[in-house]
Amino acid sequence: MSNGSSAERIATELRAELAGAPAGSRVPSTRSLTDRFGASPVTVQQAMRLLVRQGLVESRTGAGTFVRPSAPAPRADFGWQTAALGPVPSGGGEVGSTLQNPADDVIALHSGYPADDLLPVRAVRAALARASRSRSAIDRPPAAGVPELRTWFAHEVAEATTSAGGAPAASDVVVMPGGQSALSSVFRSLARPGDTVLMESPGYWGAIAAARQAGLVVVPVPRDGDGAVDPVVLAEAFERTRARLFYAMPHFANPTGSAWSPREASAILDVVRQNAAFLVEDDWAHDFALDVPVRPLVAEDPDGHVVYVRSLTKSLSPAVRIAAVIARGPAGSRIRTDRVIDGLYVSGVLQTAALEVVTAPGWAAHGRRMREQLRRRRDALVALVDAHLPGTLTAVPAGGLNLWLRLPDGSDAELFTARAASRGVLVSPGAEWFPAEPTGPFVRLNYSGPDPSRFGEAVRILADCL
Ligand SMILES: Cc1ncc(COP(=O)(O)O)c(C=O)c1O
Repeated sequence: MSNGSSAERIATELRAELAGAPAGSRVPSTRSLTDRFGASPVTVQQAMRLLVRQGLVESRTGAGTFVRPSAPAPRADFGWQTAALGPVPSGGGEVGSTLQNPADDVIALHSGYPADDLLPVRAVRAALARASRSRSAIDRPPAAGVPELRTWFAHEVAEATTSAGGAPAASDVVVMPGGQSALSSVFRSLARPGDTVLMESPGYWGAIAAARQAGLVVVPVPRDGDGAVDPVVLAEAFERTRARLFYAMPHFANPTGSAWSPREASAILDVVRQNAAFLVEDDWAHDFALDVPVRPLVAEDPDGHVVYVRSLTKSLSPAVRIAAVIARGPAGSRIRTDRVIDGLYVSGVLQTAALEVVTAPGWAAHGRRMREQLRRRRDALVALVDAHLPGTLTAVPAGGLNLWLRLPDGSDAELFTARAASRGVLVSPGAEWFPAEPTGPFVRLNYSGPDPSRFGEAVRILADCL
């Protein structure tokens, strides 16, 4: 230390030195500090007074200066806030266990996100690098989305259209920052707080939470066994609740994996039309159709009863948050307005990168390879569940990313989930997927995330936990 240190500098150095010292430790004497810092006794005493004022040390007359016990941080009281805010709109606690980030050694069958080997990682990286060097890294894109990307989303549906006038146009598309935002926007735009939304049950926890956050009342409509909702039951629910919205996943529902047959789809759409209502078609697993391709219901919907949601999060990369809503007529323009009010527009860089990947010549081949691997993962997990947890698998899904297991009657799915977690296997407890009480002890296993070479170990642990 140079001669003539100032009081502040001495205090700063001592503060750092004493930070880890136990309470009650003696601070060196003034004399030793004057020698050490080459400062006058007055300067050293000024430094000590600074430390006393900061609550770090205390001087005891005749005994010296000592480090003070650190005062406990004052405990904040936010009770007033809960009183001021009232009940939690979404009901609270709905953030799904699927978003948990597990430790590395855990076998994560709970998550909804495909592993890297199922994603076009190199293409995404290259597209992001190229987009970052283009004008899209700087420019503000149009509010409803980059025109070519809107055209691509519309074309994806139009390919499945057979009737004249059925296909949506690019102008019916609005680009969204992910499927979850799309659902929130649709619920906010097409219903008002207090309105009812009918939902297939079990169904996607994020849709249940988004509808409640928008102030809607979620009324479950049970799926009929492994299939679709019964059109008669749906018609009764419309009649009873006067709902104008029905949210469903007709193609490989999350979590059950079940799908509507064309006949069921047509009967359900008739009920929706008769009730002058909207079907929110969440086509979340469009790219994960393992046995037969998806034919979106919006492809044959000239009068705008179907509001269609498609996300690329799980097929491109969880970091590229791009999705789209397709909706016609005033519903479409209300959703586009909501998007602007909620977030003005979606990052142009992400839209440009997503567009490059999905329009590249390699995209179709990647899709075929990815589905082949996914099929192998599904079949491996199904075989293990059949062997070690016999009778629990509700159905072999023809698409999607999940198996839906019903544990033996009398089992406690929450306890089972907790026990499995304590042994390093994460699964998603069934109760999260029901808008009301669960109808049995269910759990969901995702076959797209974990390393398939650990499926055997995981299922044996699950069998043990049961
Ligand atoms: C059925 C369903 N819909 C929508 C979403 C939300 O999609 P995104 O991840 O693009 O926000 C998910 C995500 O898990 C989902 O499972």
